[in-house]
Amino acid sequence: MISQKTIQEIRDTAKIEDVVGDYVTLKKRGVNLLGLCPFHNEKTPSFTVSPAKNIYKCFGCGESGGAINFIMEHEGMTYPQALRHLAGKYNIEIDETKPSAEAIQERQTMDSLYLINERAQQFFAKQLFETESGKNIGLTYFKERGFNEDTIKKFGLGYAPNGFKTFTDKAVKEGYKLELLQKAGVTSQKGFDFFRDRMMFVIHNLTGKVIGFGGRTLSKDKKSPKYINTPESEIYVKNKSLYGIYFAKTAIRRADECILVEGYTDVISLHQSGIENVVASSGTSLTVGQIGMIKRYTPNMKILYDGDPAGIKAAMRGLDMVLEQDMNVKVVLLPTGEDPDSYLRQLGADAFKQYIADNANDFILFKTNLLLEEAGDDPVKRSQLINDIILTISKVKDPPKREGYIKKCAELLKTDQQGLINAINTLIFKDLQKKQNISNNQENISTPTTQSDNASEPHRVTQNQSNIYQELNDVPQEKNIVRLIAEFGDRIFEGNMTVAVYVLTSIEDVMEEFDNKLCHQIVIETYELIHNQQPVEPQYFLNHNDTRISDLVITLTHEQHEYSPNWENMLEHPLQTQPMPDQNYKRDVKEGVTLFKLIKVCRLCKKNSASFKSAQSEGRVDELLHLMKIQLKLQELREVLSKELGIVVLP
Ligand code: UTP
Ligand code: MN
Repeated sequence: MISQKTIQEIRDTAKIEDVVGDYVTLKKRGVNLLGLCPFHNEKTPSFTVSPAKNIYKCFGCGESGGAINFIMEHEGMTYPQALRHLAGKYNIEIDETKPSAEAIQERQTMDSLYLINERAQQFFAKQLFETESGKNIGLTYFKERGFNEDTIKKFGLGYAPNGFKTFTDKAVKEGYKLELLQKAGVTSQKGFDFFRDRMMFVIHNLTGKVIGFGGRTLSKDKKSPKYINTPESEIYVKNKSLYGIYFAKTAIRRADECILVEGYTDVISLHQSGIENVVASSGTSLTVGQIGMIKRYTPNMKILYDGDPAGIKAAMRGLDMVLEQDMNVKVVLLPTGEDPDSYLRQLGADAFKQYIADNANDFILFKTNLLLEEAGDDPVKRSQLINDIILTISKVKDPPKREGYIKKCAELLKTDQQGLINAINTLIFKDLQKKQNISNNQENISTPTTQSDNASEPHRVTQNQSNIYQELNDVPQEKNIVRLIAEFGDRIFEGNMTVAVYVLTSIEDVMEEFDNKLCHQIVIETYELIHNQQPVEPQYFLNHNDTRISDLVITLTHEQHEYSPNWENMLEHPLQTQPMPDQNYKRDVKEGVTLFKLIKVCRLCKKNSASFKSAQSEGRVDELLHLMKIQLKLQELREVLSKELGIVVLP
């Protein structure tokens, strides 16, 4: 293991303009440098390098990161390899720490599993090409499906023979441990070959290593499933793998779109006809982890559905989650009875491409139309449908995009736009609050006036917007401010401004509105720390001599909160090209501060309007104009903050 100290040294030393400059010709453009992106094809440069921030970003394909990411992506290196590469370039001596015994053990197991899968893949491929049964059954089948030899080799297709232990015996003889063969899933718990008499499809991870197999039978026997797949193992985690991603990733980036199909054969078939930006979820619905993988390359997804209405409806259910991940989703419906593979073969590549292009529908509008058709005139179904669509639209992150959907769906549903907006805003608010709601303390959680989980409640649509603001409550948001300060206080928010400074300057005007005394005190002390140029660190609060403060901060910083969904992807690929976790705390901070302010501004609005009323009734006319002005200012601020949080406000 390369030590943290060395990693830090490499980070500090490696100059992004230097590192990128080895591969890309860069020209100065203001404070930044500009060049042609090495990650996608372009004629006019959109690849920028910021020496000040020590990062690169391509505005064409979205690829971004620091020096280490650049080397990883460009050279196809792993994180440690990239570190060594850069250490070499800058003559940095590598200080290595010894990994723990468990870490070594785990690494060794994983390495063995990779080796076994690799070996099994070779075995199946050899069977396919060199044995009688392989040729007669396997190769014939693949050729009948229209796969040519290059394709078969590229995807590593194979044939598992019909013996009971053909592969297992061979592998054991070669020195592979039975226990590990079982762990890898190529040998059953009873010691037999897991795949017998099956056409073998190979599952690769992002870097092209074999992690598992899918085996198709030709037997019509109802008792044996059409496909059996490798059970999960240390290296094969189903919800984090996508069939075809290794072969598709470059094409996905280039096309800035990922096509999602259902089956192995669909992927291979499309690939062979030149549509390479395609992956399969392998019969299951998409998971957050899988979306995260796609999102590394593009935010645009096109899903091809086999034309079976029941199946489509089931598949759609999981799709709100994709919107939540900020992806743009289109769906293409294939004619009844066709899957991508069969339809492609029927139409030929060009006509198929044209069909996909012509029949790509926006997911939300598609869903709305589909449900509308189904609901017909049934009022109960219609109100369910409206609630369903509202929930879907509320997942769209981008406010202008969301507004567009509201407009179109209001038309389609023949319902009032303002009603939709109100209902959607309510949901967004709740979501935000849930995300920021760090207190488990029930007494601080207000009872919602509407029931968001009761999807069949039609009155929700006609709700008044002011209710939304009443649903907000203060103390959890105050605690959230404290958490942000304690957790991220000294980190950089922007330029050379720290999070603590950003938070304090942002909430300065509503400082007197804290309900919770402890929170207020912590914020005041933070002021003093900054004023005295002392660090704003968790330690300061955790070791505080007022134990109520240390207790509060301990609970706040150790509680599980729901991070924004990005966080999960980052944990999965911590060292790859996602925006790094630091991007994530910034979002956390920004959202927390904005929500806090919004709540306080709403409260000031209410207070001020009460003052206005009493001034009016008591005839203090001279104050009225002044109070009115304040009210307008506050309302304006309320709208700005709402917008920032992505809540649509009609003029
Ligand atoms: P399909 O039944 O559509 O498979 O299932 P297919 O690959 O198109 O097969 P053909 O065209 O009939 O030969 C789609 C995907 O669902 C998974 C597989 O990943 C398959 O490719 N699946 C299907 C299973 O895992 N197990 C099964 O029993 C069936
Ligand atoms: Mn098929």
